Amino acid sequence: MKYLIIYAHPNPKSFNHAIKEQVETVLKKQKKQYSVRDLYMIKWNPVLGGADFKVSEQDKTPEDIKKEQQFIKEADVLIIIHPIWWFGMPAVLKGYIDRVFSAGFAYQYGPEGIKGLLSGKRVVIINTTGGTQEDYLKFGFKDALIKVFKDGIYEFCAMKIIRHVFFFAVPSISKEAREKMLAEIDGLDF
Ligand SMILES: Cc1cc2nc3c(=O)[nH]c(=O)nc-3n(C[C@H](O)[C@H](O)[C@H](O)COP(=O)(O)O)c2cc1C
Repeated sequence: MKYLIIYAHPNPKSFNHAIKEQVETVLKKQKKQYSVRDLYMIKWNPVLGGADFKVSEQDKTPEDIKKEQQFIKEADVLIIIHPIWWFGMPAVLKGYIDRVFSAGFAYQYGPEGIKGLLSGKRVVIINTTGGTQEDYLKFGFKDALIKVFKDGIYEFCAMKIIRHVFFFAVPSISKEAREKMLAEIDGLDF
């Protein structure tokens, strides 16, 4: 079983970075084989441009996209780690999905409609928020994000979300509460 961590946060002192480290520690402890794509570290170009639309013509896929598609092809489980920014994902990750999850690779159009092409792969999402759990539930933000990420992106491509974890109100809680959150990752069976 191969794991692929896709991580989007620019600050190595962030809580998201601590989450990524903790996930790596758990995977190492469980002797799992994994790779990490740290999207800021690799300076991922998030802008879907004209050249990217040549992907359907054989061998015209840009090299940076080909490389990421290979990582995804080889992975059984994707672990996606990022903060919620403006009720979505950081632009660098959105642009990763725009460019890497391309037609012909992640989904295809056919006479019977749209078909996901990444079946068999499983997805774990770990998100942090500034807002409280109470507000996320009260205003429907949690359900909205779950729906968009699940039905709009990952399961649209026929992957299966096996866990979507939210760590709420990260900037306003105590250090102890954050440590408790990190400890929860220890208990996750990837
Ligand atoms: C550009 C930006 C947009 C943000 N938008 C939201 C938002 O829409 N909803 C929310 O709950 N928090 C929002 N936040 C707060 C972050 O989610 C929060 O600071 C982060 O999850 C904390 O984790 P970190 O310490 O790893 O950055 C935003 C923060 C930034 C920088």
